[in-house]
Amino acid sequence: MARILTGIQSSGRPHLGNILGAIKPAIELSKNPGNESFFFIADLHSLTTLKSGPERGEYVRAIAATWLAFGFDYKKNVFWRQSRVQEHTELAWYLNCFTPFPMLANATSFKDKSEKLADVNAGLFTYPVLQAADILLYNANIIPVGKDQKQHLEMTKDIANRFNILAGEEILVLPEPQIDERIMTIPGLDGQKMSKSYHNYIDIFLPENELKKITKKILSDSKQLEEPKDPDLDITFQLYSLVASEADVQTMRQNYLNGGYGYGHAKQALFECFMEVFAEPRRVFNYYMENTAELEGILVEGEAKAREIAQETIGKVRKVLGFSS
Ligand code: ADP
Ligand code: TRP
Repeated sequence: MARILTGIQSSGRPHLGNILGAIKPAIELSKNPGNESFFFIADLHSLTTLKSGPERGEYVRAIAATWLAFGFDYKKNVFWRQSRVQEHTELAWYLNCFTPFPMLANATSFKDKSEKLADVNAGLFTYPVLQAADILLYNANIIPVGKDQKQHLEMTKDIANRFNILAGEEILVLPEPQIDERIMTIPGLDGQKMSKSYHNYIDIFLPENELKKITKKILSDSKQLEEPKDPDLDITFQLYSLVASEADVQTMRQNYLNGGYGYGHAKQALFECFMEVFAEPRRVFNYYMENTAELEGILVEGEAKAREIAQETIGKVRKVLGFSS
């Protein structure tokens, strides 16, 4: 039985890139009866960049509702918010003391963030250590993540190894990243990687008229309606191919090549496709966003399962370090 674990930061509402690139593939993996999945909301990590409490609360709910909207089976698996299981922060402190300073100083994601952000706080610096704690607390074997997280996983293994050497046995289980190279980078409205930091994302849970407006904002070239167009160079077509059926994609491709089909038509078709394909996830998402007590109840139930496992690991770690009575 493989234990799969992954987390998503609550630093924004999930967008189409997060859903197609991370949430849906992780849910697919969780459907394998041989797997046990641990999916959590990394709300402590979000504090490195987002300070507003009310906003964080809103994003936590939106991320939780998205996992449920896309069919994550929280009863069979474990689903919780990181901040409610205090063992994450406790283990992170212990692991900090096993993490060489240069390893963090040379981390690519820290270098990137410290160039871009005005607030370069110590939390940003030790971010990978908290991530290592998230993984090692639960003896996770497989960590599905995007390519940008590869280095964080290498650090996790390195830190676990240092601890295990001191312990003289394998107390912390070394995980493996699972980076699915087939998952493409979903383009945003402007053709760059869709990301909340670039403000180019599509929130598929927006009310219908706003979703329509956003879809109209997708960048296109200035070709006139009558002219034939190259579907492979067009962002609307690329997004359509990610969500529509194979037959509908072929029809749109032919329309582009024939001419007499404008980008406005394609955007309308994409919008209609979003409304059709995501009808059920939109319904479930809205349900949980309106019934927050029920959503909270689900997270609290998951928290209890997570805590039980986390406490077992922390107990062993404390013993090794001389912190147990
Ligand atoms: P953002 O870039 O919006 O801040 P995150 O870094 O929080 O997104 O990403 C959360 C998860 O979603 C990660 O696993 C990441 O690989 C995935 N993801 C984010 N944007 C995209 C995208 N444009 N295409 C594919 N996957 C993405
Ligand atoms: N750093 C991850 C990201 O930005 C989020 C994350 C936090 C995570 N802890 C984790 C991912 C543990 C996998 C495992 O996408």
